[in-house]
Amino acid sequence: MRPLPAVAALLLLAGTAGAAGPSMDRPLTDRPGDPARGRAVVRDLSKATCLICHAMPIPEEPDHGDLGPPLAGVGARLGSGEIRQRIVDPTTANPATVMPAYFRTEGLDRVGAAFRGRTIYTAQEVEDVVAYLATLTGE
Ligand code: HEC
Repeated sequence: MRPLPAVAALLLLAGTAGAAGPSMDRPLTDRPGDPARGRAVVRDLSKATCLICHAMPIPEEPDHGDLGPPLAGVGARLGSGEIRQRIVDPTTANPATVMPAYFRTEGLDRVGAAFRGRTIYTAQEVEDVVAYLATLTGE
């Protein structure tokens, strides 16, 4: 292969890998997630609300951050497994991310004593939020 096609092939491969991303396909609970509960969970100010960093299609909420990408079409861009992996532990997709790990207790630094060994979300809350984000397929 001449150098240019080789580079193009590499870029193509890298492109596909980036689009797929790490995926956690097995749900954390037996009870399926509930999108309506998930919509309430993401707004919960006591649980590092996603709205600090993401715009979401929740018009009754006045303040939306823009540190992360808007989540309006996330259910069309990512599969449920990829969404679950992001919420459980986004460092698997980006080790330097500022997004919190919502269901990981290992390997966290700067965690206040009251929160050590605890997760931000329960397993069911993770599933509810995954179910909610999967419904966000429009812009
Ligand atoms: C402190 C800021 C912050 C908070 C809070 C936060 N995120 Fe993120 N999120 C980010 C950033 C920044 C990215 C961009 C990718 C990266 O950094 O890895 C991101 C990426 C994502 C992605 C991937 C989006 C895509 O299109 O690829 C999803 C899904 C996501 N976040 C969901 C959530 C959910 C759900 C919550 C709340 C449970 C949340 N985030 C809370 C900052 C945050």
